[in-house]
Amino acid sequence: MADSNLRSVPRRVGLLTGGGDCPGLNAVIRAFTRTARGRHDVVVVGIEDGFEGLLEGRMRELDYGEVAGLIGEGGTILGTTNKGDPWHFPVIAPDGSVEIHDVSARMLARLREAALDALVVVGGDGSMHIAQRFGALGVPVVGVPKTIDNDLSATDTTFGFDTAVSIVSEAIDRLTTTASSHHRVMVIEVMGRYAGWIALAGGMAGGADTILIPEVPFEWESVFRHVRQRALRGRRFSIVCVAEGTKLPDGGEVLRGLDRRRTDAKQLGGVGAVIARQIEEGTGLETRVTVLGHLQRGGTPTAHDRLLATRFGVAAADAVCRGDAGVMVALRGTDIVTVPIADAIATLRTVPPDHPWVQAARSVGTRFGDEPVPTGASALGDAAQGT
Ligand code: F6P
Repeated sequence: MADSNLRSVPRRVGLLTGGGDCPGLNAVIRAFTRTARGRHDVVVVGIEDGFEGLLEGRMRELDYGEVAGLIGEGGTILGTTNKGDPWHFPVIAPDGSVEIHDVSARMLARLREAALDALVVVGGDGSMHIAQRFGALGVPVVGVPKTIDNDLSATDTTFGFDTAVSIVSEAIDRLTTTASSHHRVMVIEVMGRYAGWIALAGGMAGGADTILIPEVPFEWESVFRHVRQRALRGRRFSIVCVAEGTKLPDGGEVLRGLDRRRTDAKQLGGVGAVIARQIEEGTGLETRVTVLGHLQRGGTPTAHDRLLATRFGVAAADAVCRGDAGVMVALRGTDIVTVPIADAIATLRTVPPDHPWVQAARSVGTRFGDEPVPTGASALGDAAQGT
């Protein structure tokens, strides 16, 4: 639906951050504001708490000064929420229950009241789906891909991922010294939702002995065997890095809860504890679990993420200010390009089981719990193999 009130080259642009926070959001806000104002003379209106703030009309103009010093600051000065889907909006009923409403028409009206000519959405998969639907209603929308999960298609990577991976890698370094001192198995559960990118990259960087991800189904005996073999070779500790979305061998998903205020109600969490318990029972080795949780999302972004977020922010400002719509900025090789938002959300970008990182990890002896266990093989018989 084309809207004659919306000009193709905007004078006032709304900017919001949606979904879970992520290191580098503030670097995008800084780069976007400075480029839109400084290079294009366009007014930037920061919308608070994502789409929720848009509905409630909570917004303020951002100027050069307000975004000063933000490049290394974690979180988002605009605030965010993962419960603001206009087509799945939670409303508290008079009896205290939660009702789900479609408030998209009201949100669109707010956008027009605020005289916003275009909207820039910094978000992950959920936010890009919403951006796409707003685009279909005639709103010129530009997306900026953020998520620690790295699961958006059409971009080589998202900002926030590198920081999360660095935190996992450092955590594994720390767990390794205590695991080795106490001759224990340490299971570390990391985020990533349905994709295993954080576990794969963080586990590899930290030198985990076993990495379990949703994309590679595992078998208990294969995991136990590797832990036992290491012990037989005198390495009486193991590090097992588990993605929160990893399914158990019977296909079961482990959830810590359901939150129907979200478009996807599933709250993943707890698979690490289940796996730790099984490893202890299956190997007899003392086992502990660490759930890294929101440490992966908080705090200062790495230099890599600051750079990527800055380049994305600049590119998004250039794109929206020249009148582009329905596109997301993306990294392709070393270039920042624009791609249709539709391409970014077509499929969730999960880890191909034969991805070069998986192959490299296997080459250095990392196990994924899918290695066949030869029938009748004793752990001692092949203890000399592998790590
Ligand atoms: O999408 C980012 C993410 O951190 C996921 O990895 C994780 O499953 C989820 O958000 C956690 O959400 P919340 O902060 O609402 O617990």
